[in-house]
Amino acid sequence: MRVFLVGASGAIGTRLVPQLIEHGHEVVGTVRSPGNAERVRALGAEPVVLDLLDRRAVRKAVLEAQPEAIVHEATALADATWGRNFDNVFAGTNALRTNGTDALLAAAREAGVRRFVAQSFASYRYVREGGPVKTEDDPLDPTPPANAGQSWAAMADLDRTVTEAGGIILRYGVFYGADNDGLIEPVRKRQYPHVGDGGGITSWIHLEDAAAATVLALEQDGPAIYNVVDDEPAPVREWLPVFVQALGAKPPRHVPTWLARLFAGEAAVVMSTEARGASNAKAKRELGWTLRYPSWRQGFPEVYARSAAPAAPRIGEPTRT
Ligand SMILES: NC(=O)c1ccc[n+]([C@@H]2O[C@H](COP(=O)([O-])OP(=O)(O)OC[C@H]3O[C@@H](n4cnc5c(N)ncnc54)[C@H](OP(=O)(O)O)[C@@H]3O)[C@@H](O)[C@H]2O)c1
Repeated sequence: MRVFLVGASGAIGTRLVPQLIEHGHEVVGTVRSPGNAERVRALGAEPVVLDLLDRRAVRKAVLEAQPEAIVHEATALADATWGRNFDNVFAGTNALRTNGTDALLAAAREAGVRRFVAQSFASYRYVREGGPVKTEDDPLDPTPPANAGQSWAAMADLDRTVTEAGGIILRYGVFYGADNDGLIEPVRKRQYPHVGDGGGITSWIHLEDAAAATVLALEQDGPAIYNVVDDEPAPVREWLPVFVQALGAKPPRHVPTWLARLFAGEAAVVMSTEARGASNAKAKRELGWTLRYPSWRQGFPEVYARSAAPAAPRIGEPTRT
């Protein structure tokens, strides 16, 4: 198939281009920053510079590319500075998920594109009651954290508009697998604490596995929603020590919920203490997807070993010069 991949230079896009090509697809890959075009070309895609928020440019690019499928992987998180106001951090991404998606769907309709797959998110979004792990049929959180209301609404809007148009929504877990994963620096600097009982559940996904599920989703007829997460949703109190150890970092601090709410805001507290995980049973069953990294337990040590700080010499061990 000829695939129009929006966000080809991003964390997932750069994993997806080679996998699409390996599966026999031809890829037109968009970048926002012209400087990223050569990187995308080197991966094997035909680069196109595109601002997804420029509706006319989107129409032109899609009509010119004449794709059979569109994959929307654009976010605006590369320079994100995390703060109390979650919605401020996600404002650009929210626009790409709402206005950007509308522009792409309109262009897709006009160009007669058969398949449409878009990036959504599974972690932290499901209802915060009942069992620890939720399927795609379970309700989303009806009362999102106050400082993330716009971001949760943008994702709900994205899920709805894409499925109403017959497309496929991939609710990915939290990405890991790159040398610059967002949590590496905060964990190293002890800025990512244990909050309260650390009972909030995270669903993770290695970027290579996320890309593999995306390639398989292109073979499916929509509408559909799939959680693209690993086999082991787990509370922060379980995965954080493994993450810390894989990096060779110092143990995290412990912070009470009231203090975390004050400094990091409501969303951070909910994620750390109340969030539910997501099940990947449907994606495995319907996409025939198998994971190379079924659990973060195996994935973190494998991925972060190469970026871990060198271990301190043991007593009696000679120090290398
Ligand atoms: N599920 C998750 O956990 C999740 C989801 C998304 C991102 N993240 C994390 O966030 C960090 C940054 O993500 P990222 O590396 O993918 O970078 P990013 O800056 O979020 O960009 C993603 C892609 O979207 C493109 N893009 C940005 N603004 C656009 C616009 N207005 N119009 C069209 N395309 C646009 C980017 O193009 P340019 O590169 O040319 O700017 C890039 O190809 C990474 O650590 C990643 O793992 C996590």
